[in-house]
Amino acid sequence: MSHPVPIAIVGRPTPLIESGLKSAFEVLPEPRPEIRGLAICFGHQRVDAAFVAPLPKLEVVSSFGVGYDHIDAAALAARGIIVTHTPDVLTDEVADLCLGLLIATVRQIPQVDRYLRAGHWLNKSYPLTATLRGRKVGILGLGRIGKAIAKRVVACGLEVEYHGRKPQPDVPYPYHPTLVGLAKSCNVLIVAASGGAETKHVVNLEVLEALGPDGIVVNIGRGSVIDEQALIQALREKKILSAGLDVFEHEPRVPPELIAMEQVVLLPHVGSASVHTRDAMGQLVVDNLVSWFAGQGAITPVPECQALAASKRPA
Ligand code: 8YV
Repeated sequence: MSHPVPIAIVGRPTPLIESGLKSAFEVLPEPRPEIRGLAICFGHQRVDAAFVAPLPKLEVVSSFGVGYDHIDAAALAARGIIVTHTPDVLTDEVADLCLGLLIATVRQIPQVDRYLRAGHWLNKSYPLTATLRGRKVGILGLGRIGKAIAKRVVACGLEVEYHGRKPQPDVPYPYHPTLVGLAKSCNVLIVAASGGAETKHVVNLEVLEALGPDGIVVNIGRGSVIDEQALIQALREKKILSAGLDVFEHEPRVPPELIAMEQVVLLPHVGSASVHTRDAMGQLVVDNLVSWFAGQGAITPVPECQALAASKRPA
């Protein structure tokens, strides 16, 4: 039997990833020069040209999660290293959570729950809340997850518009060439965009003001897309009504100003966090490495590495 391929795991693996990789590979306790594969798990270690420089034999990096803003995929591709991620298997889970977060924020579901538990119902009904009815929802980032959210929003009887890098020919929703234009036209802004330099702080004070005093912001993409200080200011000064946030700029640290605000709904980055979906994501992390080293190519390479993955695919 040939010697198992040496790989390493960076970050905290799920039990499924750990056992899956240990049964297929020689898993070293840290990235050493001999490794040919790398699994990137929780912790979002920055993986760039400098990180992989001491790893001359590295062929493939398999990352847990659909977002990979912590990996410089272009730099790795330039060195001939393929990066894979875990798209599709989490799309519906994240979209479900997003819709739940939107409704929870507008109808104040966590606050109402706290009200009941505190015994206040015995004295008085909970005050009436804002509504989803009649709202127009702007989606920033109409990728796989953005589209799945749009479907759910339409099913709620609401209009959807969007902004992204470019208009998409096959979608029925109106496109706005600017984010401010989208925010002006809508009173809900859902952030489903990926992170990275291109989207950093694109949701700024101007965008929030454009959304208006009835405005709701929901973020299930990346914390870096929203200027968190501008969001705090907009909420404080009532330039918008509320926010539902699953992701934060410096998570797991959440600004105390947000924690102190009763009207916002805050979740600890749980968009994909069900047993079912995290297992499917973990399996894909394992399968990408197994498939690559079995000579069957990468299953889900990131866009920057697709040409490279195709060119290296066995004939
Ligand atoms: C992951 C996510 O669980 O897929 C993503 O991009 O944000 C989450 O679903 C998380 O990134 C794992 O670290």
